[in-house]
Amino acid sequence: MDSAKDNPLKRFSSFWLGLIIFASFGLLSLLLGLCFKKPINNAYDEHNANRRQEIRTEVDAAHAGARKAAVKSFEKVGATLLAATVGAVEKPEFILPGSAMAKEKAAAGNTGIEVPADFPKVAADAPVDPAMMDEGKVLYSTCLACHGPDANGVLNLGPPLAGSEWVAGPVENLIAIQLRGMFGPIEVKGTTYTPVAPMAPLAFQTDDQIAAVLTYVRNSFGNKASPVTAEQVKAMRGEVGKPMLNPTQLLPLK
Ligand code: HEC
Repeated sequence: MDSAKDNPLKRFSSFWLGLIIFASFGLLSLLLGLCFKKPINNAYDEHNANRRQEIRTEVDAAHAGARKAAVKSFEKVGATLLAATVGAVEKPEFILPGSAMAKEKAAAGNTGIEVPADFPKVAADAPVDPAMMDEGKVLYSTCLACHGPDANGVLNLGPPLAGSEWVAGPVENLIAIQLRGMFGPIEVKGTTYTPVAPMAPLAFQTDDQIAAVLTYVRNSFGNKASPVTAEQVKAMRGEVGKPMLNPTQLLPLK
């Protein structure tokens, strides 16, 4: 019974000794931790915060610059407008047939298609200029939305131009339609078309452009008719400003 192993008292005290050493290590590390505590410093957070600040400064500066530039340009436009003298502006006419304004115009004078006595004639078999056809083909893009890429018409928007008796008919009608627009039921190839919206006047086109697009339409999509000249369009410019045509006002087909 001399071995310490067998001494229950020694075994008991070494247990406590171990526990005390363990606890003091814990305490020591806690103390060290408290004494040398440094704030946790995340380099990424700091970098990002700095960058945010930089960007904000740049954006604020840019906004201030843009505001200044906008105010300057407003001042410039305002000054130009104030200095400008009001000139005569040609008002585009958009008078629907049957409207009060159309009736007023009708009471004031003739709203039918007036063809000047010296309207230039073109022979039915006059040659068609290929350059004019090329230009007309490009200009047809104006008509395409309502009359269709193949000129077979678009439901409710525009009647067909392919095979239309009006297209092959008197050029005076075609020029007048371009200059005044048209609204109301129209019969084309035996079918009555009632458009939901008018064909707007396209008088902004030059004489050459109207001549080219009409020549193109009269000689494409299976149509065959005499070319239209710029002189013919020029002769009809008196139609501009009259109320929109009603199809009943078109000159009769021969
Ligand atoms: C905003 C749509 C629209 C555009 C764009 C338009 N038209 Fe029309 N066009 C119409 C409508 C709608 C009618 C029928 C008007 C009516 O019934 O009174 C018509 C009728 C016509 C007619 C007589 C009817 C027929 O089918 O033969 C001709 C010719 C014509 N347009 C040529 C042209 C040409 C050429 C252009 C381009 C330069 C053009 N149109 C652009 C809507 C349009």
